[in-house]
Amino acid sequence: MKAITIILFAAILVVSGCKTKPDATSALSEITWGKEGDKVITLFTLTNKNGMEVKITNFGAVINSIVVPDRNGKMENIVLGFDSLKSYQGTHPYFGSLVGRYGNRIALGKFSLNSNNYTLAVNNGLNHLHGGIKGFNKQVFSIDTAYSTADSSVVGLSYLSPDMEEGYPGNLTVKVNYVLTNNNEIRIEYEAETDKPTVLNITNHSYFNLTGGKENILNHELVLLADSITPTDSTLIPTGILAPVAGTPFDFTVAHKIGERIDQVPGGYDINYKLRNKTGQFVQVAEVYEPVSGRVLQAYTTEPGVQFYTGNFLDGSLTGFNGTKYEKHYGFCLEAQHFPDSPNKPQFPSVVLNPGEKYTQLTVYKFSVK
Ligand code: GLA
Repeated sequence: MKAITIILFAAILVVSGCKTKPDATSALSEITWGKEGDKVITLFTLTNKNGMEVKITNFGAVINSIVVPDRNGKMENIVLGFDSLKSYQGTHPYFGSLVGRYGNRIALGKFSLNSNNYTLAVNNGLNHLHGGIKGFNKQVFSIDTAYSTADSSVVGLSYLSPDMEEGYPGNLTVKVNYVLTNNNEIRIEYEAETDKPTVLNITNHSYFNLTGGKENILNHELVLLADSITPTDSTLIPTGILAPVAGTPFDFTVAHKIGERIDQVPGGYDINYKLRNKTGQFVQVAEVYEPVSGRVLQAYTTEPGVQFYTGNFLDGSLTGFNGTKYEKHYGFCLEAQHFPDSPNKPQFPSVVLNPGEKYTQLTVYKFSVK
């Protein structure tokens, strides 16, 4: 009789356990993902009370995945990336990475600062791109904090880039906090300090695909709150002028499908937009809507520009999540940044960081449905 009572009690517990949803709250967990040399690489999973889930690793400070609901509540990952650390250690086009020291290009890998000439690693034709041969995307970040409160989960990472790394002057300390809030926002908070005058332009290089990776991004509808671009030469170095977008296929001040006029842009979009803010002022950059899933991404930043890139160099040679071959235009990037080649363009907002100054940037990606 006693045994039957216990079994019955256990059964009731199991059944009620299945029915009762535990109180959802923010949470954070971690696993050891692998190693880079003798350094341990960790993969963090941040969840919020709505079940949104973001994975972050200290290898390259990469955002590995972002799982958000569609309008029916279906949860899917909406960024390009890989299941394994090994794939991030190999060659890939900066999926989810923290890019630095300089996001985008510096012409011929050369600049001068305070009458000193600097020569950077050249890794994109004749130019320097995204921090050089071993940029921040390939570095192991220290884990400073990882915790969760009722309202958010936070992973804080940092990296000390030594003087003259990839040719850049100054010992530079870079810190980034990734915060997942209960408003379905990822807040990316950056800080940096140097011990010699240097240049700095860091960004996150996530490739979004709000379909959950089912098709390319050409049917996504984009509003980009910017009135001009920095046109480039054939090597994607800005000519130095600002050109109005009005009347061109670059005008997204009202919603257009990304694919609507892309044929008029050779190769696809890969261009820096000047935002409407004063440098440092936090403003909305863009809203992207994917009509089938109903998912919406809103981007905000304190940076003066954003690189809108439509995955033009993806060619199907990389296989990512769920065995998906990442073909041309399979993801889009909204890389909050200073303008490309600013160290050689005095007319662009300054990217100089001096000792005693603190670099700060806040960029937010917020998800919802319509
Ligand atoms: C940025 C650049 C592109 C390309 C990608 C990475 O978006 O503007 O030209 O280099 O990064 O492949």
